Amino acid sequence: MAAALQLDRVSKTYGAMRAVENVSLTIREGERVALIGASGSGKSTLIRLASGLILADAQGSGTGAVHAFGIKVQEGGRLESDVRAARRNIGLVFQQFALSGRLSVMTNVLVGALGRMNALRGTFGLFNEDERRTAYAALAEVGIAQHAAKRARELSGGQQQRVAIARALVQGARLVLADEPIASLDPKSAKRVMDTLVTMSRDHGIALCVSLHQVDYATAYFDRVVAMNAGRVVFDGPASQINAAFLTELYGASAEELILPSQFVVPAPPVAISQSQTVS
Ligand SMILES: Nc1ncnc2c1ncn2[C@@H]1O[C@H](COP(=O)(O)OP(=O)(O)OP(=O)(O)O)[C@@H](O)[C@H]1O
Ligand SMILES: [Mg+2]
Repeated sequence: MAAALQLDRVSKTYGAMRAVENVSLTIREGERVALIGASGSGKSTLIRLASGLILADAQGSGTGAVHAFGIKVQEGGRLESDVRAARRNIGLVFQQFALSGRLSVMTNVLVGALGRMNALRGTFGLFNEDERRTAYAALAEVGIAQHAAKRARELSGGQQQRVAIARALVQGARLVLADEPIASLDPKSAKRVMDTLVTMSRDHGIALCVSLHQVDYATAYFDRVVAMNAGRVVFDGPASQINAAFLTELYGASAEELILPSQFVVPAPPVAISQSQTVS
């Protein structure tokens, strides 16, 4: 079975800055991985490389290859000509809510997910019954169906992130890459968004890779943690191995940035599989 995501010796250099250096990483189908690291360690760059939003450095053959579910995204600094085939399986969620604020929540889900449809058609409500039903079910699944008709900008940050998750569901993504999806949120909204991501992954077998600044969230929600430092993967293993002492070993003084104040307790993630309506 092809991996959900496979990176083979991928590097990305900006001038003299090695943002990502020789990273190889495999995420299995349905697997959930937290990507941690101090600011500037290369998390966003890695996620952008994985989704083909940026090109890796051109190097020898076989290096810089990115595959998602066995479909090539890029290799040797060249984007696969039919990169859309691979991208169809990849849903993206960003820190800054990448929605069209003027458009309705429903339209954002439909336009974002069904790339073949133009925004005008969406704006004028020309989606068919099936498409609307699917979008509505996805919105219900992430708990915001009641806001379907509102403009996206009327929603809170956490609700907007859940719209982005609904969009990935409607898209039929089998791998969701989320780059610091909770960085701009208050703790309560952050928990809600993390719960939604993990529940989505469990219920649909969607692989999940989430970059996080706060290590506490990584260890509360994930079994596997990949830690980056200065562009390199410095740890890839069980979350249970991550503690303050180990982080200090990995990061030295910048570990402080990754450890939350002790009075801040991350709530437990959902245990039960949700009963929510699923999108076929
Ligand atoms: N477009 C760019 N041009 C030049 N340098 C860049 C660019 N994007 C990233 N970098 C540099 O590459 C390094 C890795 O950046 P990246 O954004 O991947 O880190 P990060 O781990 O996501 O950090 P943060 O936690 O602050 O989001 C940084 O030194 C950054 O300044
Ligand atoms: Mg980043």
